[in-house]
Amino acid sequence: MDQQFDEKLTIFWDSDAIVLVDQTKLPVSYELVRITTLNQLINAIKTLKVRGAPALGAAGAYGVALAAQSNKNRSIVKLKAHLHLAAKSIIETRPTAINLFFGVDRVLKAIEPCITVEEAREVALNEALSIAEEDIVANKALGCIGASLLKDGDVVMTYCNAGRLATVGWGTALGIVRSAIQEGKRITVYACETRPLNQGSRITAFELLEDNIPTTLITDNMAASVMKQGKIDSVIVGADRITQTSVYNKVGTYMLAICAKTHDVPFYVAAPLATFDHESSVVEIEERDANELIFCRGKQIAPLSVQVENPAFDMTPKELVTAIITEEGIINNPHRATSINRS
Ligand code: MRU
Repeated sequence: MDQQFDEKLTIFWDSDAIVLVDQTKLPVSYELVRITTLNQLINAIKTLKVRGAPALGAAGAYGVALAAQSNKNRSIVKLKAHLHLAAKSIIETRPTAINLFFGVDRVLKAIEPCITVEEAREVALNEALSIAEEDIVANKALGCIGASLLKDGDVVMTYCNAGRLATVGWGTALGIVRSAIQEGKRITVYACETRPLNQGSRITAFELLEDNIPTTLITDNMAASVMKQGKIDSVIVGADRITQTSVYNKVGTYMLAICAKTHDVPFYVAAPLATFDHESSVVEIEERDANELIFCRGKQIAPLSVQVENPAFDMTPKELVTAIITEEGIINNPHRATSINRS
């Protein structure tokens, strides 16, 4: 079998605008939105029109480039000051995914030596374009490396959406599935719906079915029993940030890792090196609006006065992770490993 997959981009630059897939409309409609102002971008990130750590990295980088193109300042000093403020407002949108900081920071660093406004605009855009391009290259490399861990006939469980739509293209966890299928392996996927915002059912199931990859949707609370029944060969998830000790990903990942350990199912994390944070020991976990739990698609499903906790992410200790798959190789037993196995 030589299956070809759609290479549609989740986010790209088009003449004077950022264009992105509005993920809040999925799976009902696939719509592109043109972002022409910084405020529109900030709103798109906060409302999860664009989401997923690597896609946020590109969004942040394009955001600084957009701020550079649209600022009419003729002084390079003032332009740089303006871009630092723009960068600050972008990174304040979502605190957990390190890729957002990485993308913004790379563009700011690239324009540092620029001495004219024109040069800074060009450099900012080129740097953002490179970040976007590098994301696809990294995901494809990571996909090929990760595919070696899957056998013909394997069933993979995944969580949230770590696919094409969480990245600029191809995907991380789902990129591994795509690469394995391209190698001729028959892989099927169990997608957990991922409450409360249902990235699993709305986005993962959508993109897998678009690629004709056999997919079974389950509620999050079915994961343990499905593993107990022996239906799952491995769990593969993405990451928003990987520190020395832990993997930060969509809330519920920790629970899945514990279930995998209990049922002797390998638990893999797929992430590009841009998701690694070698410095922080304390990571802010984004707390989202209580209404995401009290309402579902506009319908009230809980008492308005109920107290709500709604963190977007949780922290999985590396002890529960079998391996981390990167574009440069596999980190086996990451709680003990100090290097990447590049063989
Ligand atoms: O809140 P989201 O939808 O941005 O959360 C996304 C995730 O948790 C993904 O698993 C993670 O960003 C990795 S995407 C390759």
